[in-house]
Amino acid sequence: MKKECCETKPSTIAIDGPAASGKSTIGAIVADRLAYVWLDTGIMYRAVACEALETGVSIDDEKAVTQLAEKLDVDVLPATVNDGRQFDVLINNKDRTWEIRSNEVNGSVSEVSVYPGVRVAMTELQRKIASKGDIVVLGRDIGTVVLPNADLKIYLDASIEVRAQRRLLEELARANQLDLQKTIEMLRHRDVIDSSREHAPLKAADDAILINTDNLTIDEVVDKILKIVQNWTKKEAN
Ligand code: CDP
Repeated sequence: MKKECCETKPSTIAIDGPAASGKSTIGAIVADRLAYVWLDTGIMYRAVACEALETGVSIDDEKAVTQLAEKLDVDVLPATVNDGRQFDVLINNKDRTWEIRSNEVNGSVSEVSVYPGVRVAMTELQRKIASKGDIVVLGRDIGTVVLPNADLKIYLDASIEVRAQRRLLEELARANQLDLQKTIEMLRHRDVIDSSREHAPLKAADDAILINTDNLTIDEVVDKILKIVQNWTKKEAN
């Protein structure tokens, strides 16, 4: 049988991990350094929760939230407003860049992410986008469910205290009133829902490379991942 022998770089890179483990920041830099596209699947689940809240659909109404997810149009485009944003997030053509980061969305995104129909709709879309390759995909279930055949799988982790400190700094920078204890409780609440749901729970794939980022700077984590990418060789096809 013909062997695939000549790829020298992983074309699909999955980066999973819990809330505030650094995925979004690190994933965007890694993609930029490799000149790859990047897909932050958290934005898609946030968009579902945000649109439900904006349009008065009850978060508990699984059927209505699923229907909304199936029709949702989410775009991530270069920033058009100079207000600290990295990019524009458009939901059904409306700018919702900051709304998807609100406390209300933080408080309901994990609930909508449990619904199997929502996950099916998002997973289909994510696979379609990733099929073009040369992409870094960030999420909770990318290495396990969305792209089980990803060329490279990384799982970023950090203690709840370190993650809460990072998230608190982000929130304070946006003038959101929060304290450390409240941030820890919020992250713990999402960790529990994300890890215990029946479909596609937050979990490291068996073949993922684990990186604990507690004592590492963003640059150190990026360097580690880029070294792994450099040393990557494609496993021979059977
Ligand atoms: O940015 P942060 O780490 O807080 O979270 P996120 O990556 O934006 O994801 C927000 C939420 O979406 C998570 O807590 C999960 O409930 C859900 N999510 C998911 O279920 N599956 C994914 N692949 C990505 C996010």
